[in-house]
Amino acid sequence: ENSAIWLAALLGYAMGSIPFGMVLTRLAGAGDLRSIGSGNIGATNVLRTGRKGLAAATLLLDLAKGAVPVMIAHALWPDSNGAIAAGAGAFIGHLYPVWLGFKGGKGVATLMGVCLGLSWMIGLAYAVVWLGTLALSRYSSLSGMLAAIVAPVVAITFSFPNYAMLLAGCAALVVWRHRDNIGRLIKGEEPKVGQGKKAQS
Ligand code: G3P
Repeated sequence: ENSAIWLAALLGYAMGSIPFGMVLTRLAGAGDLRSIGSGNIGATNVLRTGRKGLAAATLLLDLAKGAVPVMIAHALWPDSNGAIAAGAGAFIGHLYPVWLGFKGGKGVATLMGVCLGLSWMIGLAYAVVWLGTLALSRYSSLSGMLAAIVAPVVAITFSFPNYAMLLAGCAALVVWRHRDNIGRLIKGEEPKVGQGKKAQS
């Protein structure tokens, strides 16, 4: 039982720590994401290279690396703890990848994958809040934070208390990782999606 939990967490971390945004951008010869825009490794920053296809691929792959280990853990270990461990591993892997000296991303796309893997209802709610807020505000950071915060609330509402614990922890980390974005939002300096570039952060 215990070894299954660790195996699931390790599987999650192995997948979650693959920095798809950096890898794709480099492979496409579009530069080093660390020195572009916010310096973040996520799809929003890939979009600032002007390569929409690359950004879409980053979004999908970062989402998949959250969903797939959770689904594998679900299939291998029917009780929910394996899936929770896999989801935690994938999320932590994206935020703190050993391959990048533990300097990873902000977790929004990967967390959506984790939510989808855990429960389609939580994943759907996450997607609706994320895309809805993005459509209304054009702020990627704000939209991602709101979706992350809504996820544990939805989990509680639909009686997944142990998922809610994981998702509340993830939401806290998502907000923490967006502290520079929050500062820019407050000052009215956060760039909107599809608009120019922003200062280095
Ligand atoms: O998922 C990251 C997004 O919420 C913000 O990215 O590059 O604008 O800091 P960025």
